[in-house]
Amino acid sequence: MKTKAAVVLEYGKPLEIHELELDGPREGEVLLRFTHGGLCHSDIHGAHGDLPVRLPMVLGHEGAGIVEDVGPGVTRVKPGDKVVCSFIPNCGTCRWCATGQQAICDMGATILEGSLPGGRFPFKGPAGEYGALCMVGSFSQYGVLHQNSTVKVDDDIPLDKAVLVGCGVPTGWGSAVNAAKVAPGETVLVVGIGGIGINAVQGARYAGAKNLIAVDPLENKREKALELGATHAVATSEEAMELVMSLTRGVGADKAIITTDLVTEPQVTASFHTVSKGGTVVITGLNKLDINNIQLPATLLTLFKKTVKGSLFGDCNPTTDIPKILGLYQSGDVKLDELITRTYRLEDINEGYDDLLAGKNIRGVLVHEH
Ligand SMILES: NC(=O)c1ccc[n+]([C@@H]2O[C@H](COP(=O)([O-])OP(=O)(O)OC[C@H]3O[C@@H](n4cnc5c(N)ncnc54)[C@H](O)[C@@H]3O)[C@@H](O)[C@H]2O)c1
Ligand SMILES: [Zn+2]
Ligand SMILES: [Zn+2]
Repeated sequence: MKTKAAVVLEYGKPLEIHELELDGPREGEVLLRFTHGGLCHSDIHGAHGDLPVRLPMVLGHEGAGIVEDVGPGVTRVKPGDKVVCSFIPNCGTCRWCATGQQAICDMGATILEGSLPGGRFPFKGPAGEYGALCMVGSFSQYGVLHQNSTVKVDDDIPLDKAVLVGCGVPTGWGSAVNAAKVAPGETVLVVGIGGIGINAVQGARYAGAKNLIAVDPLENKREKALELGATHAVATSEEAMELVMSLTRGVGADKAIITTDLVTEPQVTASFHTVSKGGTVVITGLNKLDINNIQLPATLLTLFKKTVKGSLFGDCNPTTDIPKILGLYQSGDVKLDELITRTYRLEDINEGYDDLLAGKNIRGVLVHEH
Protein backbone atom coordinates (compact mmCIF):
# COMPACT_ATOMS: atom_id res chain seq x y z
CA MET A 1 0.00 0.00 0.00
CA LYS A 2 1.01 3.65 -0.26
CA THR A 3 1.65 6.05 2.60
CA LYS A 4 2.88 9.62 2.97
CA ALA A 5 5.63 10.20 5.50
CA ALA A 6 7.98 12.92 6.81
CA VAL A 7 11.53 11.82 6.12
CA VAL A 8 15.08 12.92 6.99
CA LEU A 9 17.31 12.49 3.94
CA GLU A 10 20.32 14.48 5.13
CA TYR A 11 21.30 15.62 8.65
CA GLY A 12 20.40 19.24 9.33
CA LYS A 13 18.11 19.61 6.29
CA PRO A 14 14.34 20.19 6.52
CA LEU A 15 12.19 17.06 6.49
CA GLU A 16 10.64 16.06 3.17
CA ILE A 17 7.27 14.47 2.60
CA HIS A 18 7.68 11.32 0.50
CA GLU A 19 5.11 8.92 -0.82
CA LEU A 20 6.33 5.46 0.15
CA GLU A 21 5.37 1.90 -0.60
CA LEU A 22 4.65 -0.08 2.57
CA ASP A 23 4.92 -3.90 2.77
CA GLY A 24 2.19 -5.79 4.59
CA PRO A 25 2.73 -7.21 8.08
CA ARG A 26 4.59 -10.53 8.38
CA GLU A 27 5.09 -12.91 11.34
CA GLY A 28 4.68 -10.96 14.60
CA GLU A 29 4.04 -7.65 12.82
CA VAL A 30 1.16 -5.19 12.83
CA LEU A 31 -0.15 -2.73 10.22
CA LEU A 32 -1.02 0.45 12.09
CA ARG A 33 -3.00 3.43 10.82
CA PHE A 34 -1.33 6.25 12.70
CA THR A 35 -3.82 8.81 13.92
CA HIS A 36 -1.32 11.00 15.80
CA GLY A 37 2.40 11.57 16.26
CA GLY A 38 3.98 13.71 18.99
CA LEU A 39 6.87 16.08 18.24
CA CYS A 40 9.67 15.19 20.67
CA HIS A 41 13.11 16.74 20.77
CA SER A 42 14.71 13.31 20.19
CA ASP A 43 13.42 13.43 16.60
CA ILE A 44 15.49 16.59 16.19
CA HIS A 45 18.56 14.81 17.59
CA GLY A 46 18.00 12.25 14.83
CA ALA A 47 17.36 14.85 12.13
CA HIS A 48 20.49 16.82 13.15
CA GLY A 49 22.70 13.76 13.45
CA ASP A 50 23.33 14.20 17.22
CA LEU A 51 22.00 10.67 17.28
CA PRO A 52 23.48 8.97 14.21
CA VAL A 53 20.32 7.53 12.71
CA ARG A 54 20.49 5.57 9.46
CA LEU A 55 19.21 7.60 6.49
CA PRO A 56 16.69 7.92 4.95
CA MET A 57 14.58 7.77 8.09
CA VAL A 58 10.87 8.26 8.69
CA LEU A 59 10.75 10.34 11.87
CA GLY A 60 8.34 10.15 14.79
CA HIS A 61 8.68 7.84 17.77
CA GLU A 62 5.76 9.13 19.84
CA GLY A 63 2.75 7.60 18.13
CA ALA A 64 -0.78 6.32 18.46
CA GLY A 65 -3.14 4.68 16.02
CA ILE A 66 -5.51 1.89 15.17
CA VAL A 67 -4.56 -1.65 14.16
CA GLU A 68 -5.66 -2.34 10.58
CA ASP A 69 -4.20 -5.79 10.04
CA VAL A 70 -1.90 -8.29 11.77
CA GLY A 71 0.55 -10.90 10.51
CA PRO A 72 0.68 -14.55 11.69
CA GLY A 73 1.45 -15.14 15.35
CA VAL A 74 0.33 -11.74 16.63
CA THR A 75 -1.23 -12.09 20.08
CA ARG A 76 -0.85 -8.66 21.69
CA VAL A 77 -3.32 -6.79 19.47
CA LYS A 78 -6.03 -7.42 16.88
CA PRO A 79 -7.55 -5.35 14.05
CA GLY A 80 -9.57 -2.43 15.41
CA ASP A 81 -7.55 -2.10 18.62
CA LYS A 82 -6.38 1.32 19.76
CA VAL A 83 -2.66 1.34 20.31
CA VAL A 84 -0.03 3.61 21.86
CA CYS A 85 3.44 2.86 20.54
CA SER A 86 6.37 2.07 22.78
CA PHE A 87 9.49 3.82 21.45
CA ILE A 88 11.57 0.93 22.76
CA PRO A 89 10.09 -2.47 21.90
CA ASN A 90 9.79 -4.99 24.72
CA CYS A 91 10.23 -8.69 24.07
CA GLY A 92 9.27 -9.79 27.57
CA THR A 93 11.93 -12.47 27.84
CA CYS A 94 15.41 -10.93 27.48
CA ARG A 95 17.44 -10.48 30.66
CA TRP A 96 16.30 -6.83 30.98
CA CYS A 97 12.59 -7.38 30.31
CA ALA A 98 12.57 -10.40 32.60
CA THR A 99 13.93 -8.27 35.45
CA GLY A 100 11.41 -5.44 35.03
CA GLN A 101 13.60 -3.21 32.85
CA GLN A 102 11.67 -3.15 29.58
CA ALA A 103 13.12 0.27 28.76
CA ILE A 104 16.46 -1.37 28.00
CA CYS A 105 15.10 -4.43 26.17
CA ASP A 106 17.65 -5.99 23.82
CA MET A 107 15.22 -5.48 20.93
CA GLY A 108 15.92 -1.75 21.25
CA ALA A 109 19.39 -2.27 19.74
CA THR A 110 18.19 -1.24 16.26
CA ILE A 111 16.03 1.80 17.11
CA LEU A 112 18.46 4.16 15.30
CA GLU A 113 18.69 1.74 12.36
CA GLY A 114 14.90 1.73 12.10
CA SER A 115 14.53 -1.78 10.70
CA LEU A 116 12.13 -4.40 12.00
CA PRO A 117 13.59 -7.28 14.05
CA GLY A 118 15.45 -9.44 11.52
CA GLY A 119 16.58 -6.39 9.53
CA ARG A 120 13.64 -5.82 7.16
CA PHE A 121 12.72 -2.28 6.05
CA PRO A 122 8.99 -2.22 5.22
CA PHE A 123 9.14 1.29 3.64
CA LYS A 124 10.50 1.68 0.11
CA GLY A 125 10.54 4.83 -2.01
CA PRO A 126 12.55 7.18 -4.22
CA ALA A 127 15.55 7.15 -1.84
CA GLY A 128 15.62 3.35 -1.43
CA GLU A 129 14.79 1.53 1.82
CA TYR A 130 13.60 3.83 4.61
CA GLY A 131 13.92 3.16 8.33
CA ALA A 132 11.30 4.06 10.94
CA LEU A 133 12.72 5.95 13.93
CA CYS A 134 12.65 3.76 17.04
CA MET A 135 10.94 1.11 14.87
CA VAL A 136 7.83 3.34 15.10
CA GLY A 137 7.94 6.10 12.43
CA SER A 138 4.74 7.86 13.52
CA PHE A 139 5.16 10.68 10.97
CA SER A 140 3.83 8.23 8.39
CA GLN A 141 0.11 7.78 7.80
CA TYR A 142 0.59 4.01 8.06
CA GLY A 143 3.36 1.86 9.49
CA VAL A 144 4.33 -1.76 9.97
CA LEU A 145 5.57 -2.29 13.51
CA HIS A 146 6.59 -5.33 15.49
CA GLN A 147 3.84 -6.22 17.94
CA ASN A 148 6.38 -5.68 20.74
CA SER A 149 6.31 -1.95 19.90
CA THR A 150 2.56 -1.73 20.48
CA VAL A 151 0.56 -1.38 23.68
CA LYS A 152 -3.21 -1.84 23.44
CA VAL A 153 -5.18 0.81 25.30
CA ASP A 154 -8.84 0.88 26.35
CA ASP A 155 -11.43 1.85 23.73
CA ASP A 156 -12.52 4.91 25.73
CA ILE A 157 -9.02 6.47 25.65
CA PRO A 158 -8.78 9.45 23.26
CA LEU A 159 -5.74 8.85 21.05
CA ASP A 160 -5.20 12.57 20.36
CA LYS A 161 -4.12 12.89 24.01
CA ALA A 162 -2.85 9.34 24.63
CA VAL A 163 -0.23 9.79 21.89
CA LEU A 164 1.85 11.72 24.46
CA VAL A 165 2.10 8.57 26.55
CA GLY A 166 4.27 7.02 23.82
CA CYS A 167 7.33 8.97 24.97
CA GLY A 168 7.09 12.37 26.69
CA VAL A 169 4.77 11.55 29.56
CA PRO A 170 6.23 8.23 30.74
CA THR A 171 9.79 9.49 30.17
CA GLY A 172 9.28 12.59 32.31
CA TRP A 173 6.88 11.11 34.86
CA GLY A 174 9.07 8.02 35.26
CA SER A 175 12.25 10.08 35.56
CA ALA A 176 10.75 11.52 38.75
CA VAL A 177 8.79 8.53 40.07
CA ASN A 178 10.97 5.57 39.00
CA ALA A 179 14.47 6.93 38.42
CA ALA A 180 14.69 9.71 41.01
CA LYS A 181 12.27 7.85 43.31
CA VAL A 182 10.83 11.14 44.58
CA ALA A 183 9.29 10.63 48.02
CA PRO A 184 6.78 12.73 50.00
CA GLY A 185 8.23 15.92 51.48
CA GLU A 186 11.27 16.07 49.24
CA THR A 187 12.80 19.06 47.47
CA VAL A 188 13.06 18.40 43.75
CA LEU A 189 14.57 20.36 40.88
CA VAL A 190 13.49 19.84 37.26
CA VAL A 191 15.84 21.51 34.78
CA GLY A 192 14.30 22.10 31.32
CA ILE A 193 10.53 22.28 30.91
CA GLY A 194 9.67 20.80 27.52
CA GLY A 195 7.53 17.79 26.78
CA ILE A 196 9.73 15.67 29.04
CA GLY A 197 10.40 18.11 31.89
CA ILE A 198 6.75 19.12 32.35
CA ASN A 199 5.99 15.46 33.00
CA ALA A 200 8.86 15.17 35.45
CA VAL A 201 7.07 18.02 37.24
CA GLN A 202 3.78 16.08 37.12
CA GLY A 203 5.48 12.92 38.40
CA ALA A 204 7.32 14.69 41.22
CA ARG A 205 4.14 16.46 42.30
CA TYR A 206 2.19 13.19 42.32
CA ALA A 207 4.98 11.51 44.31
CA GLY A 208 4.65 14.20 46.98
CA ALA A 209 7.47 16.70 46.46
CA LYS A 210 7.20 19.53 48.98
CA ASN A 211 9.36 22.04 47.13
CA LEU A 212 9.25 21.52 43.37
CA ILE A 213 11.45 23.95 41.50
CA ALA A 214 11.19 24.20 37.71
CA VAL A 215 14.10 25.76 35.81
CA ASP A 216 13.74 27.12 32.28
CA PRO A 217 14.90 30.36 30.66
CA LEU A 218 11.52 30.68 28.89
CA GLU A 219 8.61 32.31 30.69
CA ASN A 220 5.90 30.27 28.92
CA LYS A 221 7.58 27.11 30.20
CA ARG A 222 7.84 28.39 33.75
CA GLU A 223 4.15 29.37 33.72
CA LYS A 224 3.10 25.90 32.56
CA ALA A 225 5.27 24.29 35.24
CA LEU A 226 3.56 26.39 37.94
CA GLU A 227 0.15 25.48 36.47
CA LEU A 228 0.93 21.74 36.64
CA GLY A 229 2.36 21.55 40.13
CA ALA A 230 5.72 23.27 40.47
CA THR A 231 5.91 25.37 43.65
CA HIS A 232 8.59 27.67 42.23
CA ALA A 233 9.94 28.47 38.78
CA VAL A 234 13.20 30.24 37.96
CA ALA A 235 15.17 31.00 34.80
CA THR A 236 18.64 29.67 35.63
CA SER A 237 20.39 26.91 37.56
CA GLU A 238 22.18 29.58 39.62
CA GLU A 239 18.87 31.06 40.79
CA ALA A 240 17.65 27.54 41.47
CA MET A 241 20.64 26.80 43.68
CA GLU A 242 20.10 29.96 45.71
CA LEU A 243 16.40 29.22 46.09
CA VAL A 244 16.97 25.59 47.06
CA MET A 245 19.54 26.57 49.68
CA SER A 246 17.16 29.10 51.21
CA LEU A 247 14.21 26.67 51.15
CA THR A 248 16.25 23.88 52.76
CA ARG A 249 18.39 25.96 55.13
CA GLY A 250 21.51 25.12 53.20
CA VAL A 251 20.92 21.36 53.01
CA GLY A 252 20.20 21.13 49.28
CA ALA A 253 17.68 19.36 47.08
CA ASP A 254 16.97 15.66 47.42
CA LYS A 255 16.69 15.12 43.67
CA ALA A 256 17.51 16.96 40.45
CA ILE A 257 16.19 15.81 37.07
CA ILE A 258 17.81 17.19 33.93
CA THR A 259 15.45 17.29 30.96
CA THR A 260 17.01 20.02 28.81
CA ASP A 261 17.15 19.62 25.03
CA LEU A 262 20.95 19.59 25.02
CA VAL A 263 22.46 18.48 28.32
CA THR A 264 25.64 20.44 29.02
CA GLU A 265 28.47 20.16 31.50
CA PRO A 266 27.50 23.35 33.42
CA GLN A 267 23.91 22.06 33.83
CA VAL A 268 25.11 18.76 35.26
CA THR A 269 27.68 20.43 37.52
CA ALA A 270 25.12 22.92 38.85
CA SER A 271 22.62 20.15 39.60
CA PHE A 272 25.34 18.06 41.25
CA HIS A 273 26.16 20.93 43.63
CA THR A 274 22.48 21.71 44.27
CA VAL A 275 21.59 18.24 45.56
CA SER A 276 22.26 17.43 49.19
CA LYS A 277 24.39 14.70 50.70
CA GLY A 278 22.85 11.42 49.58
CA GLY A 279 21.09 13.29 46.77
CA THR A 280 20.47 12.05 43.23
CA VAL A 281 20.87 13.69 39.83
CA VAL A 282 18.91 11.97 37.05
CA ILE A 283 19.95 12.76 33.47
CA THR A 284 17.18 12.21 30.95
CA GLY A 285 18.03 14.81 28.30
CA LEU A 286 20.49 13.94 25.56
CA ASN A 287 23.25 15.52 23.49
CA LYS A 288 25.66 14.26 20.86
CA LEU A 289 26.84 10.71 21.60
CA ASP A 290 30.54 11.57 21.97
CA ILE A 291 30.36 14.68 24.20
CA ASN A 292 31.76 14.26 27.72
CA ASN A 293 29.16 16.44 29.38
CA ILE A 294 29.74 15.06 32.85
CA GLN A 295 32.89 16.46 34.50
CA LEU A 296 32.50 16.07 38.24
CA PRO A 297 34.66 15.86 41.37
CA ALA A 298 34.48 12.14 42.17
CA THR A 299 35.82 12.73 45.67
CA LEU A 300 32.83 14.93 46.50
CA LEU A 301 30.55 12.35 44.89
CA THR A 302 31.98 9.79 47.29
CA LEU A 303 32.28 11.90 50.43
CA PHE A 304 28.73 13.21 50.01
CA LYS A 305 27.41 9.85 48.77
CA LYS A 306 25.72 11.43 45.78
CA THR A 307 24.30 9.53 42.80
CA VAL A 308 24.33 10.58 39.16
CA LYS A 309 22.32 8.29 36.92
CA GLY A 310 20.86 8.11 33.42
CA SER A 311 17.26 7.22 32.69
CA LEU A 312 15.76 5.88 29.47
CA PHE A 313 11.96 6.00 28.97
CA GLY A 314 11.69 7.06 32.62
CA ASP A 315 12.72 3.53 33.64
CA CYS A 316 9.17 2.55 32.68
CA ASN A 317 7.85 -0.84 31.69
CA PRO A 318 5.64 0.25 28.79
CA THR A 319 3.28 -2.73 28.88
CA THR A 320 2.18 -1.77 32.39
CA ASP A 321 3.19 1.88 32.74
CA ILE A 322 1.42 3.16 29.60
CA PRO A 323 -1.97 1.83 30.81
CA LYS A 324 -1.17 2.97 34.36
CA ILE A 325 -0.45 6.55 33.30
CA LEU A 326 -3.56 6.60 31.11
CA GLY A 327 -5.52 5.51 34.17
CA LEU A 328 -4.05 8.47 36.06
CA TYR A 329 -5.14 10.70 33.18
CA GLN A 330 -8.67 9.40 33.53
CA SER A 331 -8.61 10.07 37.28
CA GLY A 332 -7.28 13.60 36.72
CA ASP A 333 -3.92 12.92 38.37
CA VAL A 334 -1.92 13.29 35.16
CA LYS A 335 -2.82 16.12 32.78
CA LEU A 336 -2.52 15.51 29.05
CA ASP A 337 -4.86 18.04 27.39
CA GLU A 338 -2.93 20.89 29.01
CA LEU A 339 0.36 19.69 27.46
CA ILE A 340 -0.67 20.14 23.83
CA THR A 341 0.20 23.64 22.65
CA ARG A 342 -0.61 23.14 18.95
CA THR A 343 -1.49 20.55 16.35
CA TYR A 344 0.00 20.27 12.85
CA ARG A 345 -0.75 18.53 9.56
CA LEU A 346 1.89 16.25 8.05
CA GLU A 347 2.65 18.93 5.44
CA ASP A 348 3.44 21.41 8.26
CA ILE A 349 5.89 19.18 10.09
CA ASN A 350 8.85 21.53 9.58
CA GLU A 351 6.86 24.39 11.07
CA GLY A 352 6.19 22.13 14.05
CA TYR A 353 9.89 21.55 14.57
CA ASP A 354 10.66 25.25 14.10
CA ASP A 355 8.12 25.99 16.84
CA LEU A 356 9.69 23.35 19.09
CA LEU A 357 13.17 24.76 18.56
CA ALA A 358 11.87 28.29 19.17
CA GLY A 359 10.52 27.11 22.55
CA LYS A 360 6.89 27.86 21.68
CA ASN A 361 5.50 24.41 22.45
CA ILE A 362 5.18 22.25 25.50
CA ARG A 363 4.21 19.56 23.00
CA GLY A 364 3.10 19.80 19.39
CA VAL A 365 1.04 16.95 17.93
CA LEU A 366 0.83 15.85 14.32
CA VAL A 367 -2.72 14.90 13.32
CA HIS A 368 -2.82 12.50 10.38
CA GLU A 369 -5.35 12.76 7.58
CA HIS A 370 -6.15 9.59 5.62
N1 LIG B 1 16.04 9.54 28.05
C1 LIG B 1 14.96 9.35 27.33
O1 LIG B 1 14.35 8.28 27.35
C2 LIG B 1 14.44 10.48 26.49
C3 LIG B 1 13.18 10.35 25.88
C4 LIG B 1 12.70 11.43 25.17
C5 LIG B 1 13.42 12.60 25.04
N2 LIG B 1 14.65 12.66 25.62
C6 LIG B 1 15.47 13.88 25.56
O2 LIG B 1 15.00 14.77 26.55
C7 LIG B 1 15.35 16.10 26.16
C8 LIG B 1 14.14 17.00 26.27
O3 LIG B 1 13.19 16.67 25.27
P1 LIG B 1 11.90 17.59 25.05
O4 LIG B 1 11.12 16.98 23.94
O5 LIG B 1 11.25 17.85 26.36
O6 LIG B 1 12.61 18.94 24.53
P2 LIG B 1 12.07 20.44 24.49
O7 LIG B 1 12.86 21.14 23.46
O8 LIG B 1 10.58 20.42 24.39
O9 LIG B 1 12.42 21.03 25.95
C9 LIG B 1 13.70 21.38 26.35
C10 LIG B 1 13.59 22.56 27.33
O10 LIG B 1 14.87 22.79 27.93
C11 LIG B 1 14.99 24.18 28.13
N3 LIG B 1 16.40 24.56 28.38
C12 LIG B 1 17.39 24.70 27.48
N4 LIG B 1 18.54 25.05 28.10
C13 LIG B 1 18.25 25.12 29.42
C14 LIG B 1 19.01 25.44 30.60
N5 LIG B 1 20.31 25.70 30.51
N6 LIG B 1 18.39 25.42 31.79
C15 LIG B 1 17.07 25.13 31.89
N7 LIG B 1 16.30 24.82 30.82
C16 LIG B 1 16.88 24.81 29.61
C17 LIG B 1 14.38 24.78 26.87
O11 LIG B 1 14.03 26.15 27.05
C18 LIG B 1 13.17 23.87 26.67
O12 LIG B 1 12.02 24.39 27.30
C19 LIG B 1 15.91 16.00 24.74
O13 LIG B 1 17.33 15.93 24.81
C20 LIG B 1 15.35 14.67 24.28
O14 LIG B 1 16.11 14.10 23.24
C21 LIG B 1 15.16 11.63 26.34
ZN1 LIG C 1 10.77 11.17 22.63
ZN1 LIG D 1 13.37 -7.67 26.11
